[in-house]
Amino acid sequence: MDIVITENAAEAARTVADFFDAAVRSGAATGRPAVLGLATGSSPVPAYRELVRRHREEGLSFRGVRVFMLDEYVGLPAGHAQSYHEFIRAHFGRDVDLSDAELHSPDGAAPDVQAEAARYDAAIAAAGGVDVQLLGIGTDGHIAFNEPGTSLSSRTRVEVLTEQTRSDNARFFGSSDEVPRYALTQGLGTIMDARHVVLIAEGAGKAAAVAGLVEGPVSAFCPASVLQFHQHVTVVVDEAAAAELDHASYYRFAWENRLDSVSS
Ligand code: GLP
Repeated sequence: MDIVITENAAEAARTVADFFDAAVRSGAATGRPAVLGLATGSSPVPAYRELVRRHREEGLSFRGVRVFMLDEYVGLPAGHAQSYHEFIRAHFGRDVDLSDAELHSPDGAAPDVQAEAARYDAAIAAAGGVDVQLLGIGTDGHIAFNEPGTSLSSRTRVEVLTEQTRSDNARFFGSSDEVPRYALTQGLGTIMDARHVVLIAEGAGKAAAVAGLVEGPVSAFCPASVLQFHQHVTVVVDEAAAAELDHASYYRFAWENRLDSVSS
């Protein structure tokens, strides 16, 4: 696990964007377009802006790239501004040359959400799996919508959201009562299948969750801690989110002295 402690949001965004940029360019060069896993939440937005900038100014093309999103609320009508599909379209998809048909998400309005979950896992597998997966982290250590107590090998399924998550996400709705109670989410096992996982976290509110992820025991009660079992994880945090890490100075040293430069 690489831990990258950045000085500001712009540096974090560039660091994250570098991994996605490299995967997209190498997919184009090899004729096997990249499969990207994207996340919602505020934390990844500056990285999406940076990728849009590179598309506009540096010729980064997303033609042929396939995107699989992590999760989706259950019950919001298609096109709802707070649906995660719309979020990714608004913050990324519509500003780059990515085909709408290649922006895949679980359908939270499907009549049979369990069947939809199985279909989604199969669709990711049929695409050849995710090359680079972006993640944020919830204040309770959740990734995607895998709440504390989630099986560490879970697949895509319906999750009941915690009151904490609904209150954290109330800022996007009128109130926490308006935040849906259920979500379709990639499972921890699904996320672990991605070839490279890049997690971004900012601010003191995420410090405990980041410490649990990096240094805590692997436990279903900090779902992100399952990433300790992944072979290729990059955790990009600012100083505030790194504040509870006991070994921060070693992580800085290890990143500065890494053998390879950034590559996915
Ligand atoms: C939601 C999403 C997660 C995201 C989390 C944190 O719960 N399902 O994927 O990581 O919010 O979001 P933020 O980055 O806004 O704190």
